[in-house]
Amino acid sequence: MAEKTLIIFKPDSVQRRLCGRILTRIESKGFKIVGMKMLQITKELVSKHYAEHVGKEFFPRLEKFTISSPVIVLAVEGNDVIKEMRKLVGSTDPHEAEPGTIRADMSVISPYNLIHASDSPESAERELEIFFKSEEIFDYQMPDDAWLCR
Ligand code: PPS
Repeated sequence: MAEKTLIIFKPDSVQRRLCGRILTRIESKGFKIVGMKMLQITKELVSKHYAEHVGKEFFPRLEKFTISSPVIVLAVEGNDVIKEMRKLVGSTDPHEAEPGTIRADMSVISPYNLIHASDSPESAERELEIFFKSEEIFDYQMPDDAWLCR
């Protein structure tokens, strides 16, 4: 089923010049970019986006990392894209991520794990609303939709 998810190329993706290569992984899979922009995440936005983690022991480190550089946020559309992007991204700790996943293939040390992907339909809806206005998400056709969308 076609759905949308929120992806963030985290500060380490931008600083290590890996955004293009990660985007290629997402596009090569057959998913469609329906929104994309660069922004500087503020402390306020970190607390909103990672609301369930506020107060956890690791939150200060997560906050410091997340605001350490501009990031790129994307709205990505595709069949079962929420679950499929989580598989493509791999486990939170790059050390435990399966070879072939973005985190295993391109990162080494936690928490510098390159990319965020929404973990459920509820999170995707909530997170997309945080980062995108409705007019910043595009509904458009592509010539290969017949091969990639059901
Ligand atoms: S939990 O508590 O199991 O739900 O947390 P987890 O899913 O492992 O991680 C949630 C997000 O927090 C980031 N994280 C950390 N950041 C900094 N320092 C430490 N120690 C740390 N541990 C977890 C982790 O990368 C997750 O971010 P996202 O963007 O969701 O992948």
